[in-house]
Amino acid sequence: MTLKNLFIKHKSDKYSHQYYKVYEKYLDKLKKKKLNILEIGVSDGSSMKAWSEYFTNSKIIGIDIKKIDIKKNKLNKKNISIHCGSQSDKKFLHLLIKKYKKFDIIIDDGSHFPKDVIKSFRILFNSLKVNGIYFIEDTQTSYNHYFGGNAFDLKFAKTHMNFFKNLTDTINYREIANPFYLQSGYDGHIKNISFFNNMVVVQKGVNNLKSNLVLNNSYENKRYNTKVSRGGGKLLYFFKYKIFFNLYTLILFSINFLKKIILFRY
Ligand SMILES: C[S@@+](CC[C@H](N)C(=O)[O-])C[C@H]1O[C@@H](n2cnc3c(N)ncnc32)[C@H](O)[C@@H]1O
Repeated sequence: MTLKNLFIKHKSDKYSHQYYKVYEKYLDKLKKKKLNILEIGVSDGSSMKAWSEYFTNSKIIGIDIKKIDIKKNKLNKKNISIHCGSQSDKKFLHLLIKKYKKFDIIIDDGSHFPKDVIKSFRILFNSLKVNGIYFIEDTQTSYNHYFGGNAFDLKFAKTHMNFFKNLTDTINYREIANPFYLQSGYDGHIKNISFFNNMVVVQKGVNNLKSNLVLNNSYENKRYNTKVSRGGGKLLYFFKYKIFFNLYTLILFSINFLKKIILFRY
C-alpha cells in the first residue's frame, strides 16, 4: 500500500495536510530497509500504525508527553515501541538515544512550540545517522503568537522557522569570507534543507566541498596564495591582500559586530 493510502486507512492528518506528498518523495525508496524511525507525538497512534505497515522491516519508536493507551489504540505491534516523555526533556531524550543509539528518520509532530522544536532538534541531531532525514511538521506555529510564534517580526524572532532559515547558512559554511567565523556543530554535516508548506526537511550528510573563493574563511589568504603561485611581486601581493584587504575586512567585521550588539542580534 502507498503511504497516502495508509494515512487514509489509519485516519492520519498527514493525509489531509498533504504531508504524504513530501513523505513519499523522501521515503519511498527506503521502505524495504531496516531502519530506526522516531516520531515525536503519538496521540491516537494513527501515524505510528501507518509507519509500522509501510516500514515492515523497521523499528517504529514513538514518544509522547501523555501516557498513551497502547491496547485501546491497537499499538501492540511487533515493530512499535512507545515511550512517555517530553521532547524538550534533555534527560529523557538522552535515555532514548542511549537505548536506540542512532535514528535513520526523525519526525517532529509533537507540541509544535518553537522552543520545543528547536531544543529537540539540537539534542536529537547528533543521534541522526549520516544521510538520515529529520522532518518537522506544522511549522505554521512559527507565525502565530498563540502557539509561541511571532507574526510581527518574521526575520528575527526566535521561532523554529528562523532557526531553520538560519541553519541554511551551514550548507555554505566554507564560503563565509569572515576570518573570525566560528564554526557551528552543524557545519559539514547537513547536505540539504527543504521548505514545504508548513513543513521543513533536513537531510544529514557529509558536506565538505572546498571553496574556490575562500581559504579557511579568508578571501585574502586565498587570493594571496593564488597570486603568489602564479609568480610576480610577492611583496606587492603581501601589502595588497595580507595588509590592505585584511584591514578592509577587519573594519567591516567591526561595524557588523557593533551593529549586532546594538540590535541585540547575537
Ligand atoms: C498532532 S499529535 C500527534 C499525531 C500523530 N503523530 C499522528 O500523525 O497521528 C501531537 C501529540 O504530541 C504530543 N505532545 C505535545 N507536547 C509534547 C511534548 N512536549 N513532548 C512530546 N509529545 C508532546 C501530544 O500529547 C499529542 O499527542
